[in-house]
Amino acid sequence: MVQTKVSIDNLISIVAQGGKVKTGIDVYNAKGVLLLEKDVLVNSVKVLEIIKEQGVRNLPLNPENYGGVWDSDGNYLKIDEDGLKAQKNSAAKQDKQTKGNRVRSTLAPSGDIEKRLKVIEEIKIVAAEKYELAKQCVKKTIDEIKKSRGEFDYGGVENQVAELVAFLNTAENPFSYLTKEILNYDNFLYSHAVNVCAIGTAILNRFNINFSNMVNKHLDISIGAGDEVSTSGNSISSGSYSYYLKDDILDISTGFFLHDIGKTLIPDSVLNKKSKLTEMEFGMIKKHSYGLGIQILEKNRLKNRIVKNIVGLHHANLYEGEKQCYPENIIANEIPLSVKICKLADMYDAMTSKTSYREAFNPINVVTDIFRKYAKKDKMLQFVLHAFVKSIGIYPTGSVIYLKSGQLAYVLESNGPLVLPFTDSRGKTLSATASPPPIDLSSDNIPDELKADSLRSIKTPLEVYEFLPEWLKPKV
Ligand SMILES: [Fe+2]
Ligand SMILES: [Fe+2]
Repeated sequence: MVQTKVSIDNLISIVAQGGKVKTGIDVYNAKGVLLLEKDVLVNSVKVLEIIKEQGVRNLPLNPENYGGVWDSDGNYLKIDEDGLKAQKNSAAKQDKQTKGNRVRSTLAPSGDIEKRLKVIEEIKIVAAEKYELAKQCVKKTIDEIKKSRGEFDYGGVENQVAELVAFLNTAENPFSYLTKEILNYDNFLYSHAVNVCAIGTAILNRFNINFSNMVNKHLDISIGAGDEVSTSGNSISSGSYSYYLKDDILDISTGFFLHDIGKTLIPDSVLNKKSKLTEMEFGMIKKHSYGLGIQILEKNRLKNRIVKNIVGLHHANLYEGEKQCYPENIIANEIPLSVKICKLADMYDAMTSKTSYREAFNPINVVTDIFRKYAKKDKMLQFVLHAFVKSIGIYPTGSVIYLKSGQLAYVLESNGPLVLPFTDSRGKTLSATASPPPIDLSSDNIPDELKADSLRSIKTPLEVYEFLPEWLKPKV
């Protein structure tokens, strides 16, 4: 692999002048945490500064995998010992390679799909930046609590969550476009808080949309343009009948963000233990919600009922008789829906994350298991479950499906879904140049053999690792 390193300060000054950089190789910090994905086109100085704060001084570039640096006019900058020089002659060639490079196709995708790929690229860049900022806020909160045995800047958290919620409303869970990070436990706490907030807020928004549609249908109101949900499918006009209002959503999302705050006061030796926990240690873990979590809120004189319920009850039983829940003796019917949503988002994120002792579970199996476990237990829970399934999508972004032709295809976006076939019909991996363009499976005019094979189960990239082309392989 041909690889070059370029000083991050040099890159910051190029990007500050309107240039762009793409590494073509995943960049990790010293702890193995993914800082930048190989395919992300960086055009924001902030992203580079965040990476620099992680101790990275030089960024690797792999031109063989479409890594490179471009100036504000789109000229490819040649990298040599003297630094970066414009190479106008090769600009057109490189630019062609760069456009839709996630696709690696010799066949041009249609204009509409090309636009969507561009939007996905843009969402990914902003999502990576927002995700990192939110994680920094969790880290700061945890550090403050550890230092003061409980006190933290609640206003700062609220501001961060408000920013996050505003961003989360721009697309249905935009963080789903990012690959999950390689985790150590410290890092799990940071990303878990952000993930539960993002997934929970997506469920909440979806629940609001479903509720509004249901009320409209019930009232037999024909939905006019002003009342319709947006094309991205996740924003509600002021004319709709929301179950949760804007202020409630902010409080609930803050609760999601802080749900495991009590874990901050549990010793690392217990939190990170790889072997089976003793009864006493398990008792300690249980207290992170109704015990330590509530204590921390009280120490900060926080009286918000919504946040308090989420922190204290997010491991409680969702129906009468559910086992292994805490605290015990809770009447399921009295648990607010926002707490139930938190529990679903919490379970989903924990089970689809890789831990020190097991691989991540297949997201679609996790959704199915959760749905089966709670369906038909109570009516309102059913509504939440439908919102949950819908917000994750039948074909989650980043999963792999079979087409009727027998080809495997990578889901670039769950909406559609938009998929990229990467094998031939006999399962042979296609080279980068032989891959067809992405297909929107919701399109009416695709041939039958290119439709999803609903009889075969959806896979995670790890499950079909041997068939994935190099550029789609997740780092393990
Ligand atoms: Fe928890
Ligand atoms: Fe949790």
